[in-house]
Amino acid sequence: MKQSFRKILAGLIVLNLFFMISCQQNVTKKPNTETEKKVEDLLKQMTLEEKIGQMTQMCASTITLNGTKELDLDVDLIKKAIQEYHIGSFLSGTGSAQKWVKFLDAIQKIAINETRLKIPIIFGIDHVHGANYVDEGTFFPHNLTLSCSFDPQILTEGAKVTAKETAPLAMPWNFAPVLDVGKNPYWPRIYETFGEDPLVCGVLGTAFIKAYQECDAIEPYKLSACAKHFIAYSDPKSGYDRTPAEIPNQILFEQFLPPFEMAIKSGNVKTVMVNSGELNGEPVHASKWLLTDILRGQLGFQGVILTDIKDIMKIVEMHAGAATEKEATLMSINAGIDMYMACNSFDFCQYMKELVQEGKITEARINESVHRILTLKYELGLFENPLPDDTKIAQIGSKEHFNVAKKAAEESIVLLKNENILPLKNAKNIMLTGFAANSKKMLNGAWTLEWLGCEEERQPKDMNTIYTALQKEFKTANINLIEEPTQNSASIVKFISEAKKNDVIVITAGEQPYSEFKGNANDLELDENQLKMIEYAKSTKKPVILVLIEGRPRVITRIEKMVDAVIFAGHPGVGGADAIAGIISGRINPSGKLSFTYPLDVGHCVPYYHKFSEKYTALYPFGHGLSFSNFEYSNLTLSDTLITSENQEITATIDIKNTSNTDGKEVVLWYINDEFGTITRPVKQLKFFKKAMIKAGETKQFKFTIKPMRDLTYPDKNGKLILENGSFKVIVNQQEIRFWLKK
Ligand code: BGC
Repeated sequence: MKQSFRKILAGLIVLNLFFMISCQQNVTKKPNTETEKKVEDLLKQMTLEEKIGQMTQMCASTITLNGTKELDLDVDLIKKAIQEYHIGSFLSGTGSAQKWVKFLDAIQKIAINETRLKIPIIFGIDHVHGANYVDEGTFFPHNLTLSCSFDPQILTEGAKVTAKETAPLAMPWNFAPVLDVGKNPYWPRIYETFGEDPLVCGVLGTAFIKAYQECDAIEPYKLSACAKHFIAYSDPKSGYDRTPAEIPNQILFEQFLPPFEMAIKSGNVKTVMVNSGELNGEPVHASKWLLTDILRGQLGFQGVILTDIKDIMKIVEMHAGAATEKEATLMSINAGIDMYMACNSFDFCQYMKELVQEGKITEARINESVHRILTLKYELGLFENPLPDDTKIAQIGSKEHFNVAKKAAEESIVLLKNENILPLKNAKNIMLTGFAANSKKMLNGAWTLEWLGCEEERQPKDMNTIYTALQKEFKTANINLIEEPTQNSASIVKFISEAKKNDVIVITAGEQPYSEFKGNANDLELDENQLKMIEYAKSTKKPVILVLIEGRPRVITRIEKMVDAVIFAGHPGVGGADAIAGIISGRINPSGKLSFTYPLDVGHCVPYYHKFSEKYTALYPFGHGLSFSNFEYSNLTLSDTLITSENQEITATIDIKNTSNTDGKEVVLWYINDEFGTITRPVKQLKFFKKAMIKAGETKQFKFTIKPMRDLTYPDKNGKLILENGSFKVIVNQQEIRFWLKK
């Protein structure tokens, strides 16, 4: 009996060893590279505690005086974190460039001079719309606004500016871009997305990642982007942040996976952050299927998988998916996470150690994650260049960088309606009102020096508000800044009488900035007081220009017919006011188009890629956006109308003429409709887009090459691509043409 027990035990040990070796082999895929050797050497010298420390990320507020985000380092706390817990990563904070330099210099010096293995810290930051946690930083439009540019070049230029303003501070890891598909306007993070279309999210996100990770203007520094939040975060059933999503696998593969797939396969993104929510009943942080089978297996992602903030704890406290945090830790590690954004508790370190001691997690499994983390640190050059460089911070917030942000706003803001009022000519008295009329905070939005956006006094000094921008734009007119009326009748009478004295009324309306759950909404309609203000303005019979400053499309249907022009600016950043004023005056010809559907009604929000049996109701559809130029589309042709093999490509061409006297940019949106599908097909899907300048009177030809495997396939519920024979339509603007696939 004893004998056979020993045999079984020996067998188990051999099996375990085999498993450990095979795991080790799994992570030593590239044994010849220099980095690989360094990582292996280092890994061999590390204790279990040191390895677990590398897998732990703490908030900077854990190591500052009074636990604030303000970068006053508490030396005892940082030493405790680094020397006692071997913490390998920190995140967040806010302050001036000089203060960041001092802070990160001190942290890094303790890590590299006062620890046994001298492993540098990797610091993470949410620079999601420019260097938005640095006082002097250049704050770009938030992604929803930016995506209305439909221009990857804008993303590229913006990413480079952000890289230059972030790298010298020794912040190598940016938790951007958001690749969640923004198809649910109730979800309060929609302004962080590139809109509702998976292709647009993928193309723009990948442009950002490539430019950010490959920016050579920041040498000797190197940077990592982070594709977040994997996956299906953005369409919770209730619309509230971090609440359950119920999404069939087929839709998951067709609509939510593509941006991540592009980021990994074309953008080579180095890190991925996980969705805090639950999908079909499974907290994503505990989903081996999503993190290991899909992300690592199907998408081939080899980089670091980071949790979102405190999300192992949330498996217990938010999802009730495990009874204890230790159990949740085991679930997350088994699912595939590499690093825990623990934030302010060191418990993870303890649980991990116990789980290894209890034999529930193998050290081989830990080695896999630490291997990835150390590889990232080596790839980012942290062992050679760990320290910030204050000789390179003068460029932060430079005029040149500001101009890139301004251009981004100009290319992105969308003119939704214009009843012969814009460009505004000959107005002597312009009334300006509403919550964002003289505010910088509303333009920069949340994630600007503070999570919810910082107060007015801390906003950039050189930036215009809409008020100061209009004053500069209309030098000979009076810009009359009038307060919004309250519901008190005297104030309404005053508002109306002031309004009557003006030639035109510019109203800013929308929403205060918010982040995450702070923006949960029960009703998408614009606030009642703002709707009433627009009605009072209309009662004067003066022309009204409505400027929407908002994180998501607030429903304006009740008053839309009353106004003469509508401009969607979202959160347009430091150059936003200049761009808005420029569009009102006509100095800038608007060229943004909606990257999302502007809902007609609060209760019916469907994306443009709805099914045939669904009705599309939109106040302004996806792709809508006016220009001061006029574009005529003609001669849609196809090089062939029959495709007989999956490798055969055909080309569609269209002529677009600018029939106006004004040079203008047009965004050309190419859609395909697969007319019949075994899994029912959307009425149309964007497959290609291009933005280009067309001079007054000029005709330009645009092309779209249709590749069957890329453009005519769709995934089934297992993610397997299907290519079905049948008829398709290529659609551009109001034109369409049919072709067939017969393999
Ligand atoms: C957000 C992430 C962010 C993280 C760190 C979380 O609350 O969901 O997007 O990167 O905080 O600040």
